[in-house]
Amino acid sequence: MKMDLRPAAAVSRRDAWREKREAALQRQGSPLGGGVLYLQHVTVSFDGFKALDDLTLHVDPGELLCVIGPNGAGKTTMMDVITGKTRPDEGTVWFGNQINLLALSEPEIVQIGIGRKFQKPTVFDFLTVFENLELALAGDKSFWHTFAARLTRADRERIDAVLETTGLEAKRDAPAGALAHGQKQWLEIGMLLMQEPKLLLVDEPVAGMTPQETERTGELLLSLAGRHSVVVVEHDMEFVRSIANRVAVLHEGRVLAEGSMDDVQEDPRVIEVYLGA
Ligand SMILES: Nc1ncnc2c1ncn2[C@@H]1O[C@H](COP(=O)(O)OP(=O)(O)O)[C@@H](O)[C@H]1O
Ligand SMILES: [Mg+2]
Repeated sequence: MKMDLRPAAAVSRRDAWREKREAALQRQGSPLGGGVLYLQHVTVSFDGFKALDDLTLHVDPGELLCVIGPNGAGKTTMMDVITGKTRPDEGTVWFGNQINLLALSEPEIVQIGIGRKFQKPTVFDFLTVFENLELALAGDKSFWHTFAARLTRADRERIDAVLETTGLEAKRDAPAGALAHGQKQWLEIGMLLMQEPKLLLVDEPVAGMTPQETERTGELLLSLAGRHSVVVVEHDMEFVRSIANRVAVLHEGRVLAEGSMDDVQEDPRVIEVYLGA
């Protein structure tokens, strides 16, 4: 049995995305080079309830991995564990094969190259797009220190590159507060990119976006693959189908199925979870 979770309109758009997905795959490093992230047998309990239950998952270098799953599956908790916000009761979390993430604080985890985008943008509305990126470049330096110091040529080039990646060149001198919802989300991704993270975690990037914004976000995330590893958690199935090369389906705190979108959609256990929800 094959269940089709797609609306009819999505089918015709699939081929347009194939090229973009394949290009992203081409840029991805060989998995034999060693993974970027390994979660092994991770369990997180809240008052006896297991939000994560023996979760094992890996991310390859340069990969764009999509994580889907019904509400309460543990997706956000998984992000919290990777970023050090929540400590697991059991299991191991490795960044590459050298760094034990469970031994690091949240700021240290940011420092070694793991960036996380939250749903609610945290840009400064009264600063321009350029200034927001400038601030992100400075990292933990103080606000006033940042704007008192002169940008080097390399800094400017980096900001310009991120403006181009995020498609915000025309908005560089606009106050962030004047941006549309989607543009604000892209600016926030841009701010994360200023720190050149090895791994980028993105929770529900297209929530509240128009179809055009959703499409542009898909292109942006795919364009990051190869240069960064990206983990996208998303509810929007049509969106995931557009951008995903590998999908992991989370359910009750563990991986229920893993593979291409076609593979996981044909999996009877996945069908049951989505129909039963
Ligand atoms: N701080 C917490 N205290 C108690 N229960 C929590 C906490 N955080 C998450 N949970 C529970 O853990 C489960 C997984 O939540 P979450 O990771 O947010 O799922 P998802 O992001 O997949 O919707 C849910 O049942 C949620 O209610
Ligand atoms: Mg969530």
